[in-house]
Amino acid sequence: MSKTKNQKDKPVSALDDAEAREELARLAGEIADHDLLYHQKDAPEISDAAYDALRQRNDAIEARFPNLVREDSPSSKVGAAPASAFGKVVHRVPMLSLGNVFDEEGVRDFLDRICRFLGLDQTDELAFTAEPKIDGLSITLRYEGGKLVQAATRGDGFEGENVTANVRTISDIPKQIETGGFPDRFEVRGEIYMSRSAFQTLNEDQLRRGDRLFANPRNAAAGSLRQLDSTITASRPLRFFAYGWGDAAEPPAETQDGAYKRLRAWGFPLNPLIKLTRSAEEMLAVYRGIESDRSGLDYDIDGVVYKLDRLDLQERLGFVSRSPRWAVAHKFPAEKATTVLRDIEIQVGRTGSLTPVAKLEPVTVGGVVVQNATLHNEAEIERKDVRIGDMVIIQRAGDVIPQVLGPVTEKRPKGAKRFVFPDICPACGSHAVREEDERTGKRDVVRRCTGGLICPAQRVERLKHFVSRNAFDIEGLGEKSIQEFYDDEIIQSPQQIFTLAEEDAKREQKLADREGWGELSAQKLFASIEDRRAVKLDRFIFGLGIRHVGEITGRLLARTYGTAENFLRAMRAARESRGSEAFVELKNIDGIGPTAAAALADFFGEPHNVDVVEALLEQVNPQELEAVDQTSPVSGKTVVFTGTLEKMTRSEAKARAERLGAKVSGSVSKNTDYVVAGLGAGSKLKNAKELGVAVLTEDEWLDLIA
Ligand code: IVH
Repeated sequence: MSKTKNQKDKPVSALDDAEAREELARLAGEIADHDLLYHQKDAPEISDAAYDALRQRNDAIEARFPNLVREDSPSSKVGAAPASAFGKVVHRVPMLSLGNVFDEEGVRDFLDRICRFLGLDQTDELAFTAEPKIDGLSITLRYEGGKLVQAATRGDGFEGENVTANVRTISDIPKQIETGGFPDRFEVRGEIYMSRSAFQTLNEDQLRRGDRLFANPRNAAAGSLRQLDSTITASRPLRFFAYGWGDAAEPPAETQDGAYKRLRAWGFPLNPLIKLTRSAEEMLAVYRGIESDRSGLDYDIDGVVYKLDRLDLQERLGFVSRSPRWAVAHKFPAEKATTVLRDIEIQVGRTGSLTPVAKLEPVTVGGVVVQNATLHNEAEIERKDVRIGDMVIIQRAGDVIPQVLGPVTEKRPKGAKRFVFPDICPACGSHAVREEDERTGKRDVVRRCTGGLICPAQRVERLKHFVSRNAFDIEGLGEKSIQEFYDDEIIQSPQQIFTLAEEDAKREQKLADREGWGELSAQKLFASIEDRRAVKLDRFIFGLGIRHVGEITGRLLARTYGTAENFLRAMRAARESRGSEAFVELKNIDGIGPTAAAALADFFGEPHNVDVVEALLEQVNPQELEAVDQTSPVSGKTVVFTGTLEKMTRSEAKARAERLGAKVSGSVSKNTDYVVAGLGAGSKLKNAKELGVAVLTEDEWLDLIA
């Protein structure tokens, strides 16, 4: 303690290596706490001058000890106000993302998938737009009666932040559209970015003023857009390219290219490199052209986006999970660098996976200093024969965690050491094993801790997952606070989050008295926890952190079972045996399959887990999801397609039924509402007749949903 205190006051020039390292850690922690208080809780506890002094000391130490700069260094962070500072906007049409492909084969697969889905011949001529993928942040601009009325960020795709005041300061964005033909209600979507030259100038100014530097133009654009004070945004040169639209009174055209022409005529900036292509060869030629122009552009791009030109076909293709089937991003190769692998550390994940993390000699990759990279799992270390002391190639693509590609064996030093992967969990001492797949007999590539909920690492990681943005989304309760509350035994299981306020009232040391907290921030946290008692059922299920149950599976389960009670009842029945009716039904939910079904049955077969879920359900009241389309005659119905359909492919039929709120299942049971029988339908049709389920022809089905 006293040592830290001394260091705090020591001049930077007098610090030794170890002291500097500790000081940087302390400063990173303190600055992050103050950022949280200032931005998220609107409750700064120190003066601006005192805050600046902390940052200046951090910068001075980093300048003297550049090899000690931390990955979470405050100097590399965007000065962004987190979510809570802005109002929320629910997107009327979700803002989804794009699937990625990385090579020619990926592009051809994308085209094949489209043809297969639409039931077209490979040779059929389809046109695609090809355009740069801008590395900025997506925005949706809502116009009513030609006036810009609202601008929102993407957020989690369903709900973003209201940044209207800031967006109004961007001169590229029209505030009023007078041109004829602009729909009365129209949302333009596109990317806000900062040019490379503006980014350079901004960072030079920041340096001169002693303000924080931005790591890249994208962070600078994000930080500039999310300022609480619009005059700051106005002083930052943000730009905009339109690439699409959302909620609209009428479609802008019949084709993507046609829509671009109209957007341009209405006064929106469109990227000048957009091309219309008519074959895979042309698409790839545009890709290569843009790739070779890349370094000469004054803005960052990270790939090329292809979009099917015909909007009627886009509509038919629809979406799969969070990406359209009709568009794809062809990404540029990731940036690489070589450095020394100093050591390997093991991290224990939420599901017990032991992940080896490479501790590296710091190296700059694509403008960011990297010191840690993932080695994925035990099998990868063996396969790549990576040894401690090796020169290794690392790769960093976009925002994903950097990864070790492999060693440069020609440069292997004499003393390079093989890494002995632990067979006990470093967090709890339980055995860590590589399971064998029952069916294939293959050994899992991942070693896992068998400690389950007795393993503190798994418990704390599950809690972090539980509060995370796409799960319970508890504002003001981030990873760092969870770790602290866990260590201090304040929150060790999910339900304790919901009794936090009640327990706090009884406790001697109040939350408000903790370092980094205050009365206001504690009250805000209690309020946001209160708000999440009415969590949506899909988020509730996803939040449980069950292996193989991601957001999409969570949503499928929520749609299928409707309420938490039904879900729990079905899972209890499903865990009894793999032959039980409940298990078979679970496995047959379209999009779930045997792996996730088995993981669910295993999870609910474990009494600890059921206890946690039950205790949690005493605190929260999960809400049923709204039907996708409540007006549709098949909303909430279970449908089975069988035999050969003539007017659409099976995938299209399924996607369309789901869009109308129906559940598509692979097997007929007494819960099936309709069986749609195509040519040559066999056993499922017979089954339906036996069970008295309504059988429709393809045409009858089309009439029903028309
Ligand atoms: S089209 C349904 N076109 O990339 C999604 N996106 O990974 C349609 N982006 O969130 C997106 N340039 O922010 C599209 N020319 C472009 C783009 C582009 C950048 C971003 C966008 C989106 C992300 C998807």
